[in-house]
Order: sequence, then structure tokens, then C-alpha cells
Amino acid sequence: MAHELENEDPIKLAEFQAKIDAEIKIEPKDWMPEAYRQNLIRQISQHAHSEVIGMQPEGNWVSRAPSLRSKKILMAKIQDEAGHGLYLYCAAETLGVSRDQYIQWLHEGKAKYASVFNYPSPTWADMGAIGWLVDGAAIVNQVSLQRTSYGPYARAMVRICMEESFHQRQGYEIMARLMEGSEAQRKMAQDALDRWWWPSLMMFGPHDSDSAHSSQSMKWKIKRESNDDLRQQFIDKTIPQAELIGLKVPDENAKWNAETNHYETSDIDWDEFWNVIKGNGPCNRHRLAHHIKAHKDGEWVRAAAQAFAMKQNNKLKIA
Ligand code: 3HC
Repeated sequence: MAHELENEDPIKLAEFQAKIDAEIKIEPKDWMPEAYRQNLIRQISQHAHSEVIGMQPEGNWVSRAPSLRSKKILMAKIQDEAGHGLYLYCAAETLGVSRDQYIQWLHEGKAKYASVFNYPSPTWADMGAIGWLVDGAAIVNQVSLQRTSYGPYARAMVRICMEESFHQRQGYEIMARLMEGSEAQRKMAQDALDRWWWPSLMMFGPHDSDSAHSSQSMKWKIKRESNDDLRQQFIDKTIPQAELIGLKVPDENAKWNAETNHYETSDIDWDEFWNVIKGNGPCNRHRLAHHIKAHKDGEWVRAAAQAFAMKQNNKLKIA
């Protein structure tokens, strides 16, 4: 990164940093350091991939939802996630890379998606835990990203955050209803919390001290709050929610510290984290194979849409 910045025009670099410091949004046509553009290409495209791959663990449950109401809610949520992916790919394309190229990097294993979607969703309670915890963690991260310095990314976040709140509430409602149910239903909810608690904390990334991108991302206000700060916000919010409905987070060291006004927790299993983001997550091969097949199966739809668009353009030219 440093050598890249050395190659930049120092005056332009200083003007760019002054815009960032003055909270002026950077727009696609503005001058930006190549390293800033590359960082955004990486982060926004991986964010988009996460939204789309995240549809898979929930898609498994549309045909097995316990009621028509819960099926409708789950379908609405999954459709929202597809839309989030769309906004984010559109934002990522403003950086000069095509969506096809982003998808190709994902399929080649050159781009990541959120580690949390590497885990299986074996019961209906997992739909509750995903909505409540995964979307809950996403809200904490994405509310902060609404203030990111790159204009198209910040604007995409505003729309996405409104829909995430519905996602989190419907997940929490599933967990609350299960906790009012039979012993078996209460156990199903607790087991799901046990499965999704630590992967949700991993969504915020490594500790700040191990974060390769954070310091530069904070300087350029791509990131407005650190990985650890956002994780702590999520923990402080979520443990009381669990206790309110009779659930217990799977961490015997989790306890409120009245002095710091935060919950203390055990440390994350960072070996698991780095192993999963290296591509060894329990469901990674399945998630990627599914995405590659769906992309291939959808080729004719994209070709038809492009042919139609070209025909319309030609009509406009002739008229
Ligand atoms: N999963 C996968 N990779 C992760 C990760 C995670 N949870 N946390 C960190 N990483 C990767 C980073 O991408 C980076 O690898 P790279 O250089 O190959 O990209 C490396 O680990 C080091 O991490 P850093 O902290 O240095 O990376 P960042 O500064 O990019 O911070 C981040 C990581 C906090 C995830 C940041 O990228 C971010 O805020 N991304 C946007 C939010 C996002 O992607 N959320 C994913 C979930 S989407 C979702 O929840 C959908 C919802 O609707 C359910």
C-alpha cells in the first residue's frame, strides 16, 4: 500500500485527504488514489457476494417453513437480500470493474464472502438465529457504513439498513415464539444460538491489531469505527436480548462490567476464523458450487435481458 501511495501525485493526495477530512463524499468521477479504489473494489464486492451467498442457508427453509405466514416473511427477507446484492454490485461497478469480473473472482476463490455463511442451517430455529444475530450484526456494521466516504457505498447502505431492521426483528420473533413453546422448541432455539453466536461475532473481522486494512480504511473513512468497537456494540446489545427471552449465550465468561459499561466475553477461536476465511468453512464448497450452477443456469436470462435492452436502444436510436 505505502509504495502505491508513493507513486501518487502528492498534491492530489493531499487534496483528496482534505476532502475526506472535510466529510466531502468521494464520487465515482472524482480523482482518488488507486489504493483507495482497490480497497473499495475489494470490500464492496465482497459485501455484495455476502448478501447473495447469504440467501442460500435461508433458501433451504422456504419450502419447509412452519406456516404460510413464516414462509411469506422468509421469502420477503430473501428477496431483500438479493436487492442488497444488486445495490452493492451497482456501487462496486462504479469503480470501473464489471459485475462479470467480480463474479469470476468469487468463483475462482480470489474474492471472499462473509465467513458466517459457511455454516449449515439444520433447523427452523436457525432462521431465527440468522435473522436476529447475523442481520443484527450486519445492522451494527452497516449503520456505521452509512457514513463511509465513498458516495455510492454510503447511499446503498441507507436503503439496506432500513430493510435489515425488519430482518432482525423477524428473526428475534422466531426465537421468542420458540422460547414460549415446548421443551423441544426451547432446546432448538438454544442450540441455534449456540451455533450462530461465535460466527456472528466473527462477522466484524479480526481484532483491530490483526486487521490488515483497518488503519488505512479508518484514515480514508471507508471504515468509521473499528472491528472491535462494532463487535462490542453488538455484544452489548444482544446479550440482554437473549436473556429477555430466556436464552443464554454460549460463553460462561460473558458478564456485565459496571465499570466499563460493557459485557466482557471470552476470546473468539481465531484459528477457526482464519481457517474459514481461507476457504475451509464447513459449507464453502457447497455454497460456491451452488452459486456457480445458479449463475450458469441464469445465463439465458441475462442474455435475453441484454438482447431486449439492445433492441429497445436501437428503437430509440431509429425514432
Ligand atoms: N468474513 C470473511 N472475510 C473476512 C471477515 C469475515 N467475517 N472479516 C474479515 N475478513 C477478511 C477481510 O476481507 C480481509 O481479507 P482480504 O484482504 O482478502 O479482503 C482480512 O479478513 C482482514 O480483515 P480486515 O479487518 O483487515 O478487513 P476489512 O477492513 O475489510 O474489515 C469487514 C472486514 C469488517 C468485514 C469489512 O470488510 C466490512 O465492513 N465489510 C462490509 C460489511 C460486510 O461485508 N458484511 C458481510 C455480511 S453481509 C450480511 O450480513 C448480509 C445480511 O443481510 C445478512
